[in-house]
Amino acid sequence: MKQSVDFQDFIDEVIEKNDIVDLISRYVTLKRVGNRFQALCPLHNDKKTPSFSVSPDKQLFHCFGCGAGGTAINFIMAKENLDFMEAVKLLAERAGVPVPDYRSAAERNRAAEIHDKKKRMYEMNAEAARFFFNNLIDKKNTKALDYLRARKLSNATIKSFGLGYAPDNWSTLIDYMKEKGYSEEELCEVGLAVKRDNGTYFDKFRDRVMFPIIDLRGNVIAFGGRILTDKENAPKYLNSPETLIYKKKDNLYAMNIAKNTKKGQFMIMEGYMDVISLHQGGFDNAVASLGTAFTPQQAEVLKRYADKVILCYDADEAGQKATDRAGEILREADVKVKVLTITDGKDPDDYIKTKGPEMFQLLIDNAESFVEYKIGKIEKQYNLDDTVEKIEFVEQIAKIFANIKNDVEREVYIKKIARKTDVSPDSINVRIKERMQKNQRNEKARFQRQEKKQFEERTGGRHDLERMRLYNAEKLLLNLICEKEVFKEVRDKLSPQSFEDGIHRKLAEIIFDVMSKGARLSPAAVLAQFDESEVGAVSEILSDDKNVDNKLEAVKMPLKTVLDYNEKKNNEILAKDGDAEKLQEIMERLKKDKK
Ligand code: UTP
Ligand code: MN
Repeated sequence: MKQSVDFQDFIDEVIEKNDIVDLISRYVTLKRVGNRFQALCPLHNDKKTPSFSVSPDKQLFHCFGCGAGGTAINFIMAKENLDFMEAVKLLAERAGVPVPDYRSAAERNRAAEIHDKKKRMYEMNAEAARFFFNNLIDKKNTKALDYLRARKLSNATIKSFGLGYAPDNWSTLIDYMKEKGYSEEELCEVGLAVKRDNGTYFDKFRDRVMFPIIDLRGNVIAFGGRILTDKENAPKYLNSPETLIYKKKDNLYAMNIAKNTKKGQFMIMEGYMDVISLHQGGFDNAVASLGTAFTPQQAEVLKRYADKVILCYDADEAGQKATDRAGEILREADVKVKVLTITDGKDPDDYIKTKGPEMFQLLIDNAESFVEYKIGKIEKQYNLDDTVEKIEFVEQIAKIFANIKNDVEREVYIKKIARKTDVSPDSINVRIKERMQKNQRNEKARFQRQEKKQFEERTGGRHDLERMRLYNAEKLLLNLICEKEVFKEVRDKLSPQSFEDGIHRKLAEIIFDVMSKGARLSPAAVLAQFDESEVGAVSEILSDDKNVDNKLEAVKMPLKTVLDYNEKKNNEILAKDGDAEKLQEIMERLKKDKK
């Protein structure tokens, strides 16, 4: 990345004012070890080995496990899944550093263009939502309103969800919107019109009850439309396609309302109508995952407002699969999950209508935890009166329990299963521990595979022992020569050319350049000269976790390794160059030595 000097100053200031230890402490508990801090890595699924290291002096972090590393900016990029400038902005804001606009004129224009386009798309959708609503309450055609009444929706509910009706016609919306100054292409881009092969356009939604999908800021970003009269080949629900302003994976239906709930938990349902009925019944915390599988991004959205979720999917097979998947995703995101099951094939909408809100509240009160739900499912597959099946049952249960992070929670469930099976808690625990160990072994093996892969990537696929030694010697040497007195000691014996081509040599060039000028070496400025994929490796080298007391003493070994290797390499080159005489001489000497 090419950057102007004042840009690097700005970045330096952002890094300076965001102490990396303080920043990372907000994500994970750091433990001081000597002059650095250690933790389980918050960037990968680090269960046992604290492979994550933070250096307060260098203001760097790195992880042996996943290879991540860098400054506070790199940490935020990785942890919050942001790009470089987003992370910088966030940290600048956090520290109260004003953000200058460094974008080029072209970039600024492009951003402004996208901004304007999005704004126009929001306006288009808002206009369309108004059009649909007015059609719904139009006295001349009460078909849709009659339908919603039959489904027991009140005026207030219809209004607060902005429901509407798309007429049974191929171009009423297009005609209306054209009059308002929007083109057919624009309507197509926002997903309200569809282009025919012959280049003409038609309304996407026809003869459907319309459900606007609204984002957290109140913009209408998409629509769902329910068919009014069943037609062959027409899906019951039709949804807007993905557009510039609508990404399914990031949004939840009714979250714009539910985010304000005081209930401290959310309920996830399958359908639009379920959500709306529940809200009307006083459950303002119901949302739906928009006709697709629940995503980790949606879990993050929910987590911003509450850490508890009740899954209320249908009890059919598709619903159970959805429950399993959503449950795992939420558990992974550290959200507490419960499962509410409605038997007798009803969905939440049917249930609350026939039995009332009080009965639905009872279902909520009796919702089982996700673990209990999984136990129940397994229980159905085994006959616990049969010894063999009982043993297999305990084995399956142990698999699930091995993933429960909380010890107390695990113990509670173990006791339950012990009572149920008449197997002692201790024996069950043994099975669980074995499972956990197996999981750990798997994780460790994965970790080692990854480490090997990383090493091979960084060394260009060479992994013989000698290379490994050289590689580690170079790493330590590069770390140590960042110290003034060490650099003074080695500068005449060594040059950047002594290091292997690639990251090491490039880093050596930078260090030699800075140190020979007697300037201060700023890790952040060094990292700025590397590609994103290299930052982890460089941070690892520059970090303060080498456990070295006397640096002048410690540099001797790696220096020798590197110098020896260079000498050998030179000799090989001489030999290859075909200096026959020299080669002969070496051969003779070797023969002599052998005797
Ligand atoms: P359901 O078929 O269970 O419908 O689909 P529902 O919500 O109970 O609808 P009503 O009560 O008959 O009106 C559940 C959800 O799956 C998505 C919709 O989000 C729907 O609300 N879906 C379903 C589609 O996107 N397309 C379809 O064709 C069907
Ligand atoms: Mn339904």
